[in-house]
Amino acid sequence: MLDMTEQTSKDATINKGQPIIRLEHIRRDFDTRGGHITAVDDVNFDLYPSDILCLVGESGSGKTTVARMAAGLLKPTRGQVFFEGRDIYEMNKKEFGEYRRAVQIIHQDPYASLNPIHTIGDMLRAPLLKHKICKSRAEATKRAGELLELVDCRPVENFIDKYPHQLSGGQRQRISIARAMTLNPRVIIADESVSMVDVSIRVSLLNTMLKLRNELGVTFLFITHDLAVVKYFAWEGNIGVMYVGKVVEYGRTPGVIGRSVHPYTRALAAAIPEADPDLTRSKEKLQLRSLDIPKLTELPSGCVFHPRCPYWIEGLCDTTKPKLIRIDEYREVACHAVEQAVARGEDPRDLAVTDQLANQLMRE
Ligand SMILES: Nc1ncnc2c1ncn2[C@@H]1O[C@H](COP(=O)(O)OP(=O)(O)OP(=O)(O)O)[C@@H](O)[C@H]1O
Ligand code: SF4
Ligand SMILES: [Mg+2]
Repeated sequence: MLDMTEQTSKDATINKGQPIIRLEHIRRDFDTRGGHITAVDDVNFDLYPSDILCLVGESGSGKTTVARMAAGLLKPTRGQVFFEGRDIYEMNKKEFGEYRRAVQIIHQDPYASLNPIHTIGDMLRAPLLKHKICKSRAEATKRAGELLELVDCRPVENFIDKYPHQLSGGQRQRISIARAMTLNPRVIIADESVSMVDVSIRVSLLNTMLKLRNELGVTFLFITHDLAVVKYFAWEGNIGVMYVGKVVEYGRTPGVIGRSVHPYTRALAAAIPEADPDLTRSKEKLQLRSLDIPKLTELPSGCVFHPRCPYWIEGLCDTTKPKLIRIDEYREVACHAVEQAVARGEDPRDLAVTDQLANQLMRE
């Protein structure tokens, strides 16, 4: 039987129409000094208007590579990227330009992404004038003020004539968000955009982004290695859990966090502090785990998670790659043990991968 949290979440997904962005079987290979790697392998997802989709996974799992392909900054080696139903690589120049403006990325490091020699006002006015959203400098200044208000930089006079180095890290990240909003994007891709910000102001920055989604209907592709941040930001959204280039579990946030199925997701979910929203503690545990990630040039055979998995099935998990299968209306999982449980007619969410074992996995 389905739990109510998932039922409620599913209701919110009904009648959403056409996805804004669809990724279909995207793969990206790179030739690196260490050899040929597949950084992203057969990733699929749909992003609907006002959705929040979180991609979660440890360092090197392919999150940024997916983001760059979704934003049209990197061409997939295989697979297709659709924007409002159209293949972005079959668009003409004008259509591609419109798509690029509609999908904006906010990067992790606001120090690197803001030009130090321009004032905040100049930075916000430039795209407004270049793309003819505002007709005069005075109009662009007025709009820049509105954007600063939108991202909670108040009073505006304290920000508009400042240079990036005169602001705090959190304020700079708000300016990055305001700049992304100049072109009235439909989608914001936030790539680890709160991870460099002090923990004490992280929640207020997440609240500002949630406001853009709730009040303006902006769609979010939100990337993080920290499930605790997802729990706060994307409770009404979906999570795709990535492990070395593949999605291993996908579903509504409450279900994926509350009743994770894949052993890897369980290990991640076990690292979230219970009642205490101390985001740092969970981050430390994830960093410890990242030491064990296999190299993309020397991937284990079969399920790439099998050397770390307490439930690996000898002769199967070490030889055959599991496929992402749908286990109910809301959840897809790539795991042989889960597939076998489904075949036995069991609820795979009751697999004996207990939290105790997940904790054990975390300590290894
Ligand atoms: N342009 C590139 N050339 C070669 N290898 C690359 C390139 N971009 C990414 N990679 C490799 O692809 C893999 C996935 O990288 P990616 O940046 O997508 O991971 P990530 O999940 O965003 O990691 P992080 O959490 O550290 O940001 C890594 O091994 C990375 O070194
Ligand atoms: S396929 Fe096997 S090794 Fe991989 S997560 Fe499932 S049980 Fe573990
Ligand atoms: Mg990244």
